[in-house]
Amino acid sequence: MDTKQLQILWAKKYQIVPKQLEKVKKISAVATAFNTNIDAVVKISGKQLKKLLERHKISETELQNIKLTSFREPKDALIAIVKCFARGIAEEWTTTDISVYEWLKQEIGYDRLQMGGQGGIIANAMALLGIKKVITHTNSHPELQAKQFLDLDNLLAFDVNGQLKKATEIARNEPPMIHWIIEFDKGDNFSLGDKTFVCPKSNRFIATYDPLNMNLAVNQHFKTYLNNHKVSYLLLSGFHPLLKENNGLKLIKNIVPVIKKWQKANPKMIVHLEVASTQDKAVRKAIIDDIAPISQSIGLNERETLDLLNVLGKKALAQKIEREMSACNLFDALLFLKEKLKTPRIQLHMFGLYMSLQDSSFPRSADDNLKGMMTASVVASSKAYNGALAKYQDLTATLGQSVSEVGLKELSSLAQKLKAPELIKTGICQVGNYSLSAVPTILVEKPKTLVGMGDTISSVSLIGGR
Ligand code: GLC
Repeated sequence: MDTKQLQILWAKKYQIVPKQLEKVKKISAVATAFNTNIDAVVKISGKQLKKLLERHKISETELQNIKLTSFREPKDALIAIVKCFARGIAEEWTTTDISVYEWLKQEIGYDRLQMGGQGGIIANAMALLGIKKVITHTNSHPELQAKQFLDLDNLLAFDVNGQLKKATEIARNEPPMIHWIIEFDKGDNFSLGDKTFVCPKSNRFIATYDPLNMNLAVNQHFKTYLNNHKVSYLLLSGFHPLLKENNGLKLIKNIVPVIKKWQKANPKMIVHLEVASTQDKAVRKAIIDDIAPISQSIGLNERETLDLLNVLGKKALAQKIEREMSACNLFDALLFLKEKLKTPRIQLHMFGLYMSLQDSSFPRSADDNLKGMMTASVVASSKAYNGALAKYQDLTATLGQSVSEVGLKELSSLAQKLKAPELIKTGICQVGNYSLSAVPTILVEKPKTLVGMGDTISSVSLIGGR
């Protein structure tokens, strides 16, 4: 079959998506925890970046082969931006130093505010999908935070008295937690000295000063609620801003019994862990050691996969993937993680393709999973296309568009590698004891947004898989 024919075949498969969206509306409750914040989003051009570098006297030599992964001082934000800009990668650096926040406000500013944090972003998406009740953990919920929630009656959080209320109507007297999201565009460039920096892929750098999320502050009302009420899914994230030097390992250890208690009260609940870009290696390892074993599902992207390989002693495989970010190489990583972590379901998304490996005992079938991933492909590409998901119709803006050629190409090399030719047409094959589901995705030519894409992909894939 040639690409055109395969695109027609996959377009037929994608026709299932509206049906999945109807099924999702029957889910009675999901909860998201822990991180909800406000994102201050700003687009930076190569030209602006050059001006800032000159103004802050950052030389060309400091920008060669950047190794830095955390702040020494506020203006390191510029080095971080160049690192991400020049490599087309996404990174998030967290800091306990408020002067970084002040500096960003002063020097960079922002274009708009929007919902931030995996927990908050996923909650908005889940509520828009029409799940009957979405319970969101917020550790700071002032009016400015409330405004970032969609105005939906099924989207709930706790007010200061512990009442479960519509999230937009809550105004707790707490400080807003604002993160800087600095975006840049593919093809943009600037020169400094005799070096030219060209951005190979639109992406973003996130600078986070957020004392509440960095301390994994837990809202007591939320905690009690899950001890006494059932939800079908608990979507977990928010461990990635923790730092070892800021008690991060202990915070992770302490949260385990809390989650276990929720699970005991609700044994059928599916717990999903969204890995997210975690710079602190010790924290990354603790997430794998402590949170992964109590999760039934894990979601990550290609960079986060590399990060995990690096703390699990698989440097050679990581380097191989770094050299060639292909589905075949990433599949090796996925299989390694599946065997190592033993999580019943792991999903990896890369440019143009989502794939997941799951046990036969996972409560949803490989086919359900495939349908969920196609649903997520439509919803996530629609988000990229619209720039946001604000109304119900936004969810399916790209429905009917062809799946990407890149995705099909990756899928067919994976099918070859696995000696499973059916994979390219069915999206499913058996790999040892596991079922692999893989879908080529819809790609948007000029995405209006990229932030929160992974959160949307993972959560919609999981809950849409039914
Ligand atoms: C991280 C960032 C947050 C952003 C989110 C998007 O949680 O801290 O600001 O909204 O990632 O995925």
